[in-house]
This record gives sequence, structure tokens and C-alpha cells, in this order.
Amino acid sequence: MLAEYTEVAGETTRTFLSAPTRAVHQYLREWMERTGMSVFVDVAGNLRGRYDSENPVARRLYIGSHIDTVPRAGAFDGVLGVVLAIALIENLEGRKLPFHIEAVAFSEEEGVRFRVPFIGSRAMIGDIGDDLLATRDPDGISVREAIQAFGLDPSRIGEAQADENALGYFEIHIEQGPVLEALNLPLAVVDSILGQSRAGVTFEGRASHAGTTPMHLRRDALAGAAEWIAAVEREAQNISGLVATVGSLAVQPGAANVIPEHARASLDVRHASDLVRRQSVERLLGCAGQIAARRNLAASMEHHLDQPCVALDDALVRMVEHAVETSGHVVHRMSSGAGHDAMIMQRRMPAAMLFLRNPGGISHNPDETVLPEDVAAALRAGASLLRGLENSHG
Ligand code: GLV
Ligand code: MN
Ligand code: MN
Repeated sequence: MLAEYTEVAGETTRTFLSAPTRAVHQYLREWMERTGMSVFVDVAGNLRGRYDSENPVARRLYIGSHIDTVPRAGAFDGVLGVVLAIALIENLEGRKLPFHIEAVAFSEEEGVRFRVPFIGSRAMIGDIGDDLLATRDPDGISVREAIQAFGLDPSRIGEAQADENALGYFEIHIEQGPVLEALNLPLAVVDSILGQSRAGVTFEGRASHAGTTPMHLRRDALAGAAEWIAAVEREAQNISGLVATVGSLAVQPGAANVIPEHARASLDVRHASDLVRRQSVERLLGCAGQIAARRNLAASMEHHLDQPCVALDDALVRMVEHAVETSGHVVHRMSSGAGHDAMIMQRRMPAAMLFLRNPGGISHNPDETVLPEDVAAALRAGASLLRGLENSHG
């Protein structure tokens, strides 16, 4: 149902503060309000529903995930965690807990529109500076302008921040990989999240006629990018545990009979060691410069993200483990290869995550799916976590 709110008919594509975000907000807001939450959209476009304790000075537990998507996304990455956050509160049937709960639908996690991920959760920890607000999307619209166009005031971005002394952050998400399916388990407890780098390389040559320009006189930006993309793949093949991806390529002028003048390639690099990841990024950017020099091209580089590996909060992770166990499931701990808002929230408060099985291990793909019984298992474990927190904070 929520997957039908899209920028592109026939698929699910919903980037930061795009028009369908309003429809998702409307749908979730009505559900949150029916459940007894007071709802607001913060300055970063995060939809937040507060289900407060009767104790006004209680600490707050944040539960959520993101509602933006990659292009041609599946129906579950992010949004399932938001839906389950609201369902967990709905299942309390109005019973108040000794702590406040806030369900959060983060506006941006994927980094598609502005090439910088985690805008929603970064706003909640006070990590949005002027540089990020000035970052422009491919249409030349800045983050600041996108926030304004959504009817929000970017000069008040600091007000999106979560409580200083929050109880914690809990996120339920599909695994986005094959591990749980192979183990025949519905759930996993996430104790750490892999770091990632994102960057961009633009090769610039000279547009010229495809029929008349001899091969040795060309300055073909796309041929340079292609050589570099092959080097990116080789780097990852040669370094154990490294994954490196060029997921987008923009070529201009973009006609069959014109030698490409500009080619902009994205870069996404991940590894369990921040040092290994950073060294690879530097090597790959250096390699782009060498390829450009040899081909008489110019190359420029942009760094969009250097997000270190994050260990989630040990005490909260153990509470999630206990919740999985008491809800009748085998406890399996794992690290997440995908990035999540939890890795940002952990900078401000204890964070933990629960994964649920992702049949076929397929994600960032319309074929992404979940099993209804695993969703039920995640809800039971989530409810059990709330009971555990109630007992320890009662
Ligand atoms: C989020 O989906 C990521 O790219 O890790
Ligand atoms: Mn994703
Ligand atoms: Mn996600």
C-alpha cells in the first residue's frame, strides 16, 4: 500500500521530501493519531508521533526507520520498521509505560537525492551544518530549498534534535541479505553496522563528432570512467571483505553520435575496517586521477560520506537478545552490511536493531519481500523488549 506512493508511476521511488512523502505522512499520521500519539513533522521532514508516559519527566525511547527509498525499491526497506514502530504502540491499546515512546519516520536515509545519506537522523542528533544545507541535487535544488519547498523552515533545523537524555533508539529492519534465510531463522539481533564511504568522480573530456574524430584524437570522458569502473571492481575483488560499487553514471551530452564530454560516476565502498575502507577510497580516487591524466581528461572528486563502523549499545543489544529469546526464538547476533539510521542515533543515545529474514536475500529491488510469520515474530520480540524496558525503568 505505502509502496504505491511514488515519484515514478509503476515503481516505488520516493526520495527526500518528494511529493509522495506527503501522502505517506498523511497515511501514517492518521494511524498514529488513532493510536493516541501526538504527531508533528520536524524541520528535517521527519514524521514523529509521541506516545507519552504519564510521568512528564520520563525519558524517551525512539523507535523508527526511514520512509525514503532507492530508485525502483522494494516495499519493505525502511518503511516496514516505521509500520512496526506504530504497530508496537498500537498493541499497547492505550496502556501508558514508565517512559515516553516516539515513533519516527525518518525523511531520508538512502542518500539518493543529495548523494548524502542519513539526513533525517543527522538532523535528530544536531549534525546538519551549512555545508549540507547548501548541497544541491542534480536539478540544482539545495537541501535548504527542498526543506523550504516542503513548507518547513531550514533556519530552525536545530529544533529537530532528539532529547539529550533519551532512553534509546530501537529499529526493526529487513536483513537485506541471505544470512537468516540460510540459518532458517526469522530474527537476528544486530550488534554493529559496517562503515561506508560515498564519493563521486567526474571525468571531463571534449564533445566531438563520433563519425569524424579519429580514435587517437579523442578525449572521451565515458571511456575514462569505464576504465575506472573496472578498476573499482578489481580493487574490491582483491581485498578480502571489501565491497565497492559504482551505482550511478551520468553521461553528457548523451547521444549516440557525440563523444561524451562529461561522465560522473558514484562510488560506494564498505569494509569492516575503517582503515582498509579509507585506504581503498584514496587509492581509487588516485587511480581516477591517473586514468584521466593518461587520457588527457580532467577528473574532479567529491567526498559525500565517511561513516565509520558503529558498535551498537551493548546493554540495549543484550536486552533485544533477551526479548528475542523470551518471545520464543533462537538468538542470533550479526553485523549489518547495510547502513541504518541506528548508526547515526547511536552517537546521541544507546541504539539497537532487530533484523528480520529477507527471503532470497534480495533488497534494493522490487522483488524484496518478507514472510508474514516473521513480521509477527518481530512484533512479538518488539513487545517483549518494551516489557523488558518497562521492568528495568518502572
Ligand atoms: C542503505 O540502504 C545502505 O545503502 O546501506
Ligand atoms: Mn536501503
Ligand atoms: Mn533501509
